[in-house]
Amino acid sequence: MKATILVTGGLGYIGSHTVTALYEAGFEAVIVDDLSNSTEAVLDGIARITGVRPEFYKEDLRDPSAVNRIFAENSRLEGIIHFAASKYVGESIEKPLLYYENNLCSLIHLTKEALAHGVRHFIFSSSCTVYGEPEEVPVTEESPVLPAVSPYGNTKQIGEEILQDVAQAEDLNVILLRYFNPVGAHPTAEIGELPRGVPQNLVPFITQTAAGVREELKIFGNDYSTPDGTAVRDYIHVMDLAEAHVVALKRLLAGENKQKVEVFNVGTGRGNSVLEVVKTFEEVTGKSLPYSFAPRRAGDISAVWADTTKAERELGWKASKTLADALADAWRWEKKVRKIK
Ligand code: UFG
Repeated sequence: MKATILVTGGLGYIGSHTVTALYEAGFEAVIVDDLSNSTEAVLDGIARITGVRPEFYKEDLRDPSAVNRIFAENSRLEGIIHFAASKYVGESIEKPLLYYENNLCSLIHLTKEALAHGVRHFIFSSSCTVYGEPEEVPVTEESPVLPAVSPYGNTKQIGEEILQDVAQAEDLNVILLRYFNPVGAHPTAEIGELPRGVPQNLVPFITQTAAGVREELKIFGNDYSTPDGTAVRDYIHVMDLAEAHVVALKRLLAGENKQKVEVFNVGTGRGNSVLEVVKTFEEVTGKSLPYSFAPRRAGDISAVWADTTKAERELGWKASKTLADALADAWRWEKKVRKIK
């Protein structure tokens, strides 16, 4: 019998790609999503890729009775991958309560019901934002967790702490995955990133600019102390990131985790500047991208990328796709969305 996994936020960007990776690996998924930043059409994309239309609940995890019902109706759940959360740094500064309520109340309700229903395996979407502006790069899992600069970042830190405390007190095994910058789309272009409104993140802004939806890319800051002056990040293909969830899940289900809470960086181990991303995009697509420099964006750090030694050693997982692969896939997806030949 296939193991069934509850995937919260399973119609979102990382969640939907992970659902396809789960099916590919022989799992079954039950999806819950409030559609606050996705649409039910994503379910069709998943179905075209996997041949299966997973069971889907349109529910808000802030509602404890909804969470209870999902567990009560799915007695075979063996694990949870919890993606559902609000994710925009800037918005979180403007609407802190929304972020604390949405990201933390949901986590609490979900964890409570998991324990009540005997679900012992939990994977949490954390973020490299917990490292703040690191003194040394690359960052390892031992690098200091610095005070969060946004309510969003704080919800990730507090989320990690909640799970640490609960796992020590209860029968719960947790893997915290600290994502770097997920980019790209499923190679079939059946699913991808579909931000609402003006994209906040670099790659969707680039692809929308290339598609003519935006006039030009503004590069925030060219006076960082990096080789070309623009900020450096670790851009990981969303399918590599999805695969990291599958291996983490298998580790938990097989009882191979060495501690009740384990933390892994999920990045490529490479840093690329904004200008390098732009250049790579131009090379891969043959399109020239209009851009100009603008002041630094508030809250941005200069450079962060992952030391991935621990994930390689413990999970046997390593990112296999390049930045060029990710940008080609992101562009294929954007063209499909915009109906560009
Ligand atoms: N950038 C631009 N122009 C844009 C958009 C982004 O120059 O229009 C730059 C940013 O200044 C940054 C880089 O591109 O230097 C990457 O920016 P993103 O917004 O794509 O990603 P961030 O690194 O800022 O954010 C990511 C996640 C957040 C998370 C944050 C910190 O998307 O969820 O890392 O961990 F909070």
